[in-house]
Amino acid sequence: MSVKPPSRVVLFDGEVDLQRGLLERGGETFRLTTREVSLLAYLAARSGQMVSFDELLIEVWEFSPAVVSRAAYHTARRLRQKIEEDPSKPRHLLTVHGEGLRFEPWEEAAPAAPASTTPTVEPVSSLPAQLTRFIGREALLDELASRLTSERLVTLVGPGGVGKTRLALAAGGRLQAAGALPGGAWFCDLTTRQGRAGLHEALVTTLGLRQVDDDPSVRLIRLADALAAHGACLLILDNFEQLAAWSSDLLPLLQRAPELRLLVTSRVRLKLTGASALELPPMDPEEGAALFLERADGAGGASWARPGPASPPDRRRCGAPSTGPGSCSPPGSRRRWSA
Ligand SMILES: Nc1ncnc2c1ncn2[C@@H]1O[C@H](COP(=O)(O)OP(=O)(O)OP(=O)(O)O)[C@@H](O)[C@H]1O
Ligand SMILES: [Mg+2]
Repeated sequence: MSVKPPSRVVLFDGEVDLQRGLLERGGETFRLTTREVSLLAYLAARSGQMVSFDELLIEVWEFSPAVVSRAAYHTARRLRQKIEEDPSKPRHLLTVHGEGLRFEPWEEAAPAAPASTTPTVEPVSSLPAQLTRFIGREALLDELASRLTSERLVTLVGPGGVGKTRLALAAGGRLQAAGALPGGAWFCDLTTRQGRAGLHEALVTTLGLRQVDDDPSVRLIRLADALAAHGACLLILDNFEQLAAWSSDLLPLLQRAPELRLLVTSRVRLKLTGASALELPPMDPEEGAALFLERADGAGGASWARPGPASPPDRRRCGAPSTGPGSCSPPGSRRRWSA
């Protein structure tokens, strides 16, 4: 063989140590036969090129050119059962026109794959600009920003309307302003998303990726790789509560994108290993009053009786439950008091 074979081969969901003949996939180790290792090593040394069955029989099996055999074909089939996630749709070990085999390693296969997504690596921000000023919550904002600098998965939990989204955006904005997110920050609104596919679709759209692979595990890897390409970045996942069953899908993102930080807002606590949860209480009465008055002004407050500057809002008149930021609903604010 003229080209030196690699010592390891990276697969879509695993890795082969060619020297030891071991395949690691999904946390398990499998042993390859000597022939399987030789075949894989030979093909991997010519990644991306078709190698004829005739050449394989001579070079790997050391048969004489006169021998007719399907040995290479059968070994390739057995190898596919081990290294391919779906042997009927191989990603790595491909038969070419029945004449030979071609090996596609994962790193090279990824950008060329038909369903591939193309990450943009410039710093980006999809944090929506706020039309109103951020009121109060200084200690909580400090706490959240500091957790996001030291931890990679933070959940912000509280009832509907308490101010989670607003605080999450303020914390993201603060980190960006401090230059802590050179890779960018994204805001992903999950309010109307349902199920695992809904979660993935929202992520693909938010990250501006072009296509979605049909296979959920591939989609996750594509998403994680796109995020990893951005380096230090933040993804805010807003209103995650109805997707709580799929929260474990966030872990591969963190595993494959080592500089990614996730800030997840939810009305319910999420069962997520390693997540740091911050509970958001209602605003204190003064801040609540300030918010109420600002919104009343913004919505043409002339028709609203305005209490003196230090007076708390009149809860009986507002008639709203006591879960919101200021305990009563500012006119014009989106409010879902269901939690
Ligand atoms: N600190 C704040 N400063 C200014 N406005 C705020 C603040 N906190 C909340 N608000 C406003 O109160 C309203 C409700 O807040 P927000 O949407 O953040 O609640 P939420 O907890 O995310 O609710 P939900 O669970 O329904 O998504 C919004 O109009 C928001 O802009
Ligand atoms: Mg919200």
